[in-house]
Amino acid sequence: MIVYLNNSYLSSDDAFISPLDRGFLFADGVYESIRTYNKKLFRYNDHLERLKRSLREIEIDFEGCDSIEYIIYELIKKNKVKNEALVYLQITRGSTSTRTHCFPESKINPTVFISVKDYKPIKNEFYKGIKTILEEDLRWLRCDIKSTSLLPVVLANQKAAEAGAEEAVLVRNGLITEGTHTNFFAVKDETVFTAPASNFVLDGITKKVVLELCKQLKIKVREEHIRKDEMKNYNEFFITSTTKEITPVIQIDDWKIKGRTEGAITKKLQVAFNELTINN
Ligand code: PDD
Repeated sequence: MIVYLNNSYLSSDDAFISPLDRGFLFADGVYESIRTYNKKLFRYNDHLERLKRSLREIEIDFEGCDSIEYIIYELIKKNKVKNEALVYLQITRGSTSTRTHCFPESKINPTVFISVKDYKPIKNEFYKGIKTILEEDLRWLRCDIKSTSLLPVVLANQKAAEAGAEEAVLVRNGLITEGTHTNFFAVKDETVFTAPASNFVLDGITKKVVLELCKQLKIKVREEHIRKDEMKNYNEFFITSTTKEITPVIQIDDWKIKGRTEGAITKKLQVAFNELTINN
C-alpha cells in the first residue's frame, strides 16, 4: 500500500515515524475518516472544516490543509483503488528531541499521515441491523475534538466485540451520548431524537446529513439526550457514521428491539441517504 507521510508518497513498509513523535507518546493529534461514493469524496468540505476545528482546538498550527484533497486523490490513483476509497488522515503535533508534556518551545513540523484503502461496505448490516451494548462513557470532556486519544472507546468497543455486538453505546450520568465511533439516534412518536451538539459528542458529518434529510422529509427532530432508563419508550434506534452510514440497532444489551417495530423512519432515512450517495 502506498501512503502519504510528511510530503512523501511511499510504501507503508517504508513509512516510519520517530518514537519521539508526540502522536506516539501522548496521542497528541487529531484525525478524520472520509469515504468516496462514485469515486468522489463525500462531504469533503465538512470533513475539512471539522479537521481545521480540531487542529485549532488543540493548537496545532498546520498550514497544508489546502493540499489534502489533492493528496487523497493521488493516493487513490497510486493505490489503483477499484471500488470506493476509505481515507484515514492523521495529523500530530510532530516530534521533538526529548519527551516533555507541554508544547515544544520552538516551532516543529506536524506529522501528517494519510492512507486510503479499497472499501466495500458491509451492506448486510444496513438491512439486518446490529447488536449493541451499553457502556459507561469514560472519555474526557472534549469529545467534540476528533482526537487520536481513543483508549476509552477502544476498551468499550472490545467489550462489545466480546459480547458479540458491533457497537457499544456510551452512557454519561444516565444519558446516552453516542457510540464508540458512531452517533446514536432513537425514534418515538414519529420524532427523531439525538444528543445535542456539545463537548460530550462528536459532531458527526453523517449526523449532519441525517438532520438535513429529516428537514427535507419533514421528519420532526429533537436534539435532546435520550435517557438510559427511558430507552424502552422509543421504538426505533439507529447509529450513523462515515462507514456505518445509517445502520439500524436491533438489540441493546439483552433487549431485542426487532419485531417491536417496522423501523419505518430509519428505512425512510436510509432510502434518502442512499439516493444522496448515488448522486454524489
Ligand atoms: N468515527 N462519534 C464518534 C465518537 C466518532 O468517532 C465518529 C466517527 C462519529 C461519526 O462521525 P462521522 O459521521 O463524521 O463519520 C461519531 C470514524 C468513522 C472513525 O473513528 O473512524
